[in-house]
Amino acid sequence: MRTNRVWALLAPIAVAIVVVATGEPAAATRGSTTSAVVISTRTLSGLGAVLVNSKGLTLYMFVPDKDKKVTCVGSCAAVWPPVKLATGAKVVAKGAVNSKLLGSDPDPAGGRVVTYAKWPLYTYAGDRKPGTATGQALNLNGGLWYVLAPSGKVIRTKVTGPVGTTTTSTPTTTSTPTPTSTPTTPSKGAPVFPPGNAANGPAVFSQAGCGACHTLAAAKSTGTEGPNLDQLMPTVAQVENQVEYGGGTSGATMPDFGLSGALSPQQIADVATWVSQSA
Ligand code: HEC
Repeated sequence: MRTNRVWALLAPIAVAIVVVATGEPAAATRGSTTSAVVISTRTLSGLGAVLVNSKGLTLYMFVPDKDKKVTCVGSCAAVWPPVKLATGAKVVAKGAVNSKLLGSDPDPAGGRVVTYAKWPLYTYAGDRKPGTATGQALNLNGGLWYVLAPSGKVIRTKVTGPVGTTTTSTPTTTSTPTPTSTPTTPSKGAPVFPPGNAANGPAVFSQAGCGACHTLAAAKSTGTEGPNLDQLMPTVAQVENQVEYGGGTSGATMPDFGLSGALSPQQIADVATWVSQSA
């Protein structure tokens, strides 16, 4: 009898859950209750509310997709992993996400990719933790990448300095707000960098997600997309130039962190000095 009573209490709840689940317009395939892909929102300083995945990692749209199909595959998808939708899984809207804008597109690599306002969604290998958007406004792997607002609008703002969650922004890490060594517009030919402080290097390396693509023992990173920095042993100027302009001579390319404003000249000098010393 005890079981019956429990059931009497639980049944309406169970019904309510089923109604909510099937009422979801974005439910890709109904029937299976196994897995769900959660799309949520998070507020980032300088960008406002943006779409994130269940881990809080920032989601991006890729301009060449032209809001209708998944074009980032192969080596592109290694750097920008698409938000895959397993067969039978459904998409669940959380936060300020509008469930009516959720959908999915076939992935040429197999399976389906979750879309928002018709844009296939991707994470970025350079974002190592929630609250960062190091891929914002990068021109990489054949096109531009931008975050999306809950309205479905593409946010094209370039953020200067580190992107962080507004709630936790404590601009105290670099104690002295270095009297920004003359905000001269860096001439494309020769960027001028202030003297670097190696002590700040590890933080910049981790924030910019350099380790996602590079192996560097001092950073305990094992990325393989770019050259192994321990073997390369680059000079300060070499790192500064690469981080400022990105790009590459071989097939794979590196995002630029200077032109896009993702890192300040001081941060680039700091990470370059540290990488050069530790590699
Ligand atoms: C998304 C992957 C990715 C990220 C993130 C990344 N890199 Fe790279 N990096 C590459 C690739 C790919 C190359 C090789 C480019 C080429 O073909 O010349 C490269 C090249 C380099 C080089 C060699 C330049 C030369 O002169 O040969 C250095 C130094 C470097 N990166 C440092 C960094 C630092 C420091 C960061 C973080 C601020 C970083 N990278 C972030 C992918 C990345």
